[in-house]
Amino acid sequence: METAAIERVHTGIPGLDHVLEGGFPKGARVLLSGGAGCGKTICCGQYLYKGATRYGEPGVYVSTEEPPSEFKANMLRFGWDFKKLEEDKKIGIVDAVYQRVESEIAEQESLQAILYNLRSKLAEVKVLVEQLGAKRLVVDSLPGFGFRVTDLNTLREIFLEVGLLLKDVGSTTLMTTEIVEGSGLISRYGIEEFLATGVMVLSLVKQSSPLRKMFVRKMRGTSHSLNDFAFTIGREGLEIKGPIGVRSLSRGRGRLHSLGRKRRVN
Ligand SMILES: Nc1ncnc2c1ncn2[C@@H]1O[C@H](COP(=O)(O)OP(=O)(O)OP(=O)(O)O)[C@@H](O)[C@H]1O
Ligand SMILES: [Mg+2]
Repeated sequence: METAAIERVHTGIPGLDHVLEGGFPKGARVLLSGGAGCGKTICCGQYLYKGATRYGEPGVYVSTEEPPSEFKANMLRFGWDFKKLEEDKKIGIVDAVYQRVESEIAEQESLQAILYNLRSKLAEVKVLVEQLGAKRLVVDSLPGFGFRVTDLNTLREIFLEVGLLLKDVGSTTLMTTEIVEGSGLISRYGIEEFLATGVMVLSLVKQSSPLRKMFVRKMRGTSHSLNDFAFTIGREGLEIKGPIGVRSLSRGRGRLHSLGRKRRVN
């Protein structure tokens, strides 16, 4: 029996669509996981910028870690003018950094107070998504919503609330979390991945020379490669360079690809 093709959302990262059968599945909630400085925020910015400028898809960026002014300044280094896109109503930016302070105060009060604050911030996100007709959404980062919250049950509740919003708005979402080196986890708390229909892990390996790697751990509805892929961050942002090793789910099972052959993926 033939099944309907899953609609794809272009990632805006050269080489990545090819790894994902054309892009993220429409409506997917993709967790972008990685250590500090791995390129998560740049990847998210590129996804939104290319979406708005190349594919005519408005997007919303929710910042829980750095003030929007810093995000915009960093993105401008790549020539991505988010200020202009905001003015043109192609991008919306939600400053959720204050949540840190709110959470800190609220934690001493009650879970209800935390959830109350969180829900009002998420309602703001929802209104903006609707106003702009945003097809793309970024939450950078998930743990930022639970800043200084140490109780795992409280964190579960916080992530659950965010997960409900993501399902509700239905935009194709990228959300980031960090990996604590040596923890053996693919997210900060080992909870975040349960919100996700896809997980991509970014890492920075420092051997004889530094190497940035990306790995698609899961992507629902997609026969994706299980290879590690080398990527670079250059003047144009992230670019996938090629597979480093191991095998793919659908093709070339057991065949080793090496970077030495400079095999391009797009
Ligand atoms: N203009 C640039 N050209 C090349 N590489 C850059 C440029 N700007 C930043 N980088 C690299 O990207 C890294 C930062 O990327 P990014 O902010 O996306 O990381 P992150 O994973 O979001 O980090 P964090 O965990 O701190 O949020 C820098 O540490 C640097 O190595
Ligand atoms: Mg970041």
